[in-house]
Amino acid sequence: MVRKVGEIVTDQLSKRFGKIKAVNRVDIVVPQGSVFGLLGPNGAGKSTTTRLLCTLLKPSFGTAQVGEFDIIENPVKVREITGVLPEEGSHTLYPSMSAYQNLEYFAKLYDVPDEEIPGRIEELLTFMELWERKNDRAGELSTGNRQRLALCRALLHKPKVLLLDEPTSALDPVAAKRVRELILSLAKKYKQTFFINSHNLSEVQRICDRIAIIDKGQILLTGTTAELREQLHAKQEYMIRVTGDIEKAKSIAESQHFVESVKVGVDSLIVTIDNPFENNSQLMQGLLAAGVNIIEFAEEEASLEDLYLEVLNGGGD
Ligand SMILES: Nc1ncnc2c1ncn2[C@@H]1O[C@H](COP(=O)(O)OP(=O)(O)OP(=O)(O)O)[C@@H](O)[C@H]1O
Ligand SMILES: [Mg+2]
Repeated sequence: MVRKVGEIVTDQLSKRFGKIKAVNRVDIVVPQGSVFGLLGPNGAGKSTTTRLLCTLLKPSFGTAQVGEFDIIENPVKVREITGVLPEEGSHTLYPSMSAYQNLEYFAKLYDVPDEEIPGRIEELLTFMELWERKNDRAGELSTGNRQRLALCRALLHKPKVLLLDEPTSALDPVAAKRVRELILSLAKKYKQTFFINSHNLSEVQRICDRIAIIDKGQILLTGTTAELREQLHAKQEYMIRVTGDIEKAKSIAESQHFVESVKVGVDSLIVTIDNPFENNSQLMQGLLAAGVNIIEFAEEEASLEDLYLEVLNGGGD
C-alpha cells in the first residue's frame, strides 16, 4: 500500500465505548498548512476523533500520525507539537489563576523560552481583546472570554498542528470572525495545520480547504467543497435574471424537456437543468426568441448545507 503523506494521517482510526462505535475506521489525510473541517451532527464522533489525535484517548483499533509521530508509539512527541482546544475548552484553565498567570503557567509547561513568554502572552491577549482582563481570574471571565483564553493557550507554543473542537461556538460574531481570520493567516504564514470540528456549515465553507462529513463514527464523504459537490452529482441550479414578463419566462423554461424545476423570484428564475453544458444555450435561445430580456445567467453555488443535508438524509429538505 502506498503510504499517505500529510501532517495528519489517520489509518482506520477507531474508538469503541462498549457497544458504541464512536469512531469507526476513519481515514483522513490533512496536508501541512491546510485547514481541515470535520462536520457532523451531535454524537457523530468529532470530539472523540480530536481526543484520539491529541492522545487523550487510545484507539481501540487503527492509528494516526500527527506530524512525523504515531499517536500510539509516541504520544509525548505528539503532545509537544500540537495545540488543543478541547470541547470544554475553558475546563483546561485554572479558574483561580488570572488570565495572564494561566498562560504563563502553560508557556513554561510547553518550554517556551523564558524571554519570549511576556511578549507572546501580550500578543495573544491583545489579539483576543483580553489584555485589559489579564488580571481577572479565568473562572470569573464570561464563557466567550474563557474560550478566547483557551484559544490563546492552544496557540501559545506555536504548535505545528492545532486541534480545535468547535473553536467559535461561544464567541460573538465579531470575535468569531477574528478567530477565523487568525486561523487563515496562521495557516498561510506559518504553515500551521488546523483540524477543526464544527457544526457551523458556513464557517467551514469559509475557512476550510478540505472537509469531511462524519456520522455515527464513519466518514461519509471527504474532499474539497467542489469535489464533494461532484461526488454527489448535486443538482445544477442556475439563476436567470430577466426584465419584463417573468411568468412568460417561467412557462418557456418549464416547456424545455431538460428543465427539472423552475422557482420564481421577484426578477429572476432559479432553474434546475439536466446536463447544463449541452442545454444552457438552448434555454437562453428559447427565452431570447420569445422576447425575454436576459440580464444575468449564473450558476448557483450548491452550499455546503445542501450537501450536508443530502449526505445525512439522502436528500434536501
Ligand atoms: N467517554 C465516553 N464514554 C462513553 N461514550 C462516549 C464517551 N465519549 C463519547 N461517547 C459517545 O461516543 C459518540 C460520539 O461522541 P462525540 O462526543 O465524539 O460526538 P461529537 O460529534 O463530538 O458530538 P457533539 O457535536 O455533540 O459535540 C456518542 O455516542 C457519545 O455518546
Ligand atoms: Mg463534540
